[in-house]
Amino acid sequence: MTPKSKTIKKHAGITAGITGLGCYLPKKVMTNADLAKLVDTSDEWIRTRTGISERRIADEKEVTSDLAVNAARMALRDAKLEAKDVELIILASISPDMPFPATSCIVQAKLGAVNAACFDINAACSGFIHELTIAQQFIESGMYKNVLVIGVELLSRFIDWKDRSTCVLFGDGAGAAVIAPVKRGGIISSYLGADGTKSNLLMCPAGGSVHPASHKTVTEGMHFLKMQGNDVFKNAVRVMTDACAKVLHKSGLTTGDIDCVIPHQANIRIIEAVVERVKIPMEKVFVNVDRYGNMSAASAIVALFEAVKEGRVKKGDKVLLVAFGSGFVWGSCIIEW
Ligand code: UT7
Repeated sequence: MTPKSKTIKKHAGITAGITGLGCYLPKKVMTNADLAKLVDTSDEWIRTRTGISERRIADEKEVTSDLAVNAARMALRDAKLEAKDVELIILASISPDMPFPATSCIVQAKLGAVNAACFDINAACSGFIHELTIAQQFIESGMYKNVLVIGVELLSRFIDWKDRSTCVLFGDGAGAAVIAPVKRGGIISSYLGADGTKSNLLMCPAGGSVHPASHKTVTEGMHFLKMQGNDVFKNAVRVMTDACAKVLHKSGLTTGDIDCVIPHQANIRIIEAVVERVKIPMEKVFVNVDRYGNMSAASAIVALFEAVKEGRVKKGDKVLLVAFGSGFVWGSCIIEW
């Protein structure tokens, strides 16, 4: 094979954008008062330290791929596509159906998306920004015309319900988007980063090759999410601030050009600290962490879905997405709607 035949031809003039959005939130609401019955915490502590009032918890019969399929069906309807039109499914999650096969394959089967290639990514809370950026490459190279991206989490099954420092923070949910060539607007620019030296600050230690399932891992609760909250908090503020500056610079835009910010929804104090440093007023920032808590890969995509539905994002608006999570990984993206 000659070097030339290996290169993917860039089809000049193709711009990728979002042509459909969907979301699924389990019906069951768990309030801060409900949590105060499980661990030594209070509604006051959770609200003032995180901004969270309630979160959704999946029914015991639901699994991650079910949440994903519900969001995906809505996104496909919104994009006026049928499942067989999808050429690629990218699914972002840290709480998949199982270690393998990829949850995207299970979703493909449930949707009947028989023509789709599939893979999962693990980019934690930055899952949506990572998969948007990946999908953009497939669309703008001319390789695919319809890519379905899904951010989904069923974190309630990975949480230690006896650990008050983590169990109050997370929730279950799914969002999906169709990425396709658009005639106007679309993805202007994106930026991704990582720092693997801090992977120990937010992790699920067991269930992989380092600590395979054993009596010890189960007894010691090593299959649950572990977080050094305060360190993660400080890194999130620093890195998300920098990621906003980098993507604005890449786009040749300033904060004044941005109409709406969709930040990862982990903690209202993180969001406020980032936008204060970036110098964007809170009126331009979409927040739903109060209702859903941190849904990791699902957070930004569900927030974008709601912002569009509520008219906070309108045609022609410039939207800045920014997220940070376990890895550490992070990303930012500017889209013209
Ligand atoms: O999605 C990306 C990853 N995740 C995040 O971005 C989350 C980042 N971290 C955070 O949001 C915050 O660090 C937390 C909300 C997790 C914690 O807030 P904090 O202001 O950093 O509190 P802290 O961890 O420093 O703990 C302060 C106190 C401690 O008590 P002492 O040692 O001061 O006596 C904790 O034991 O608050 C205590 N505490 C609680 N008290 C009541 C911790 N969790 C709770 C709780 N209820 N649920």
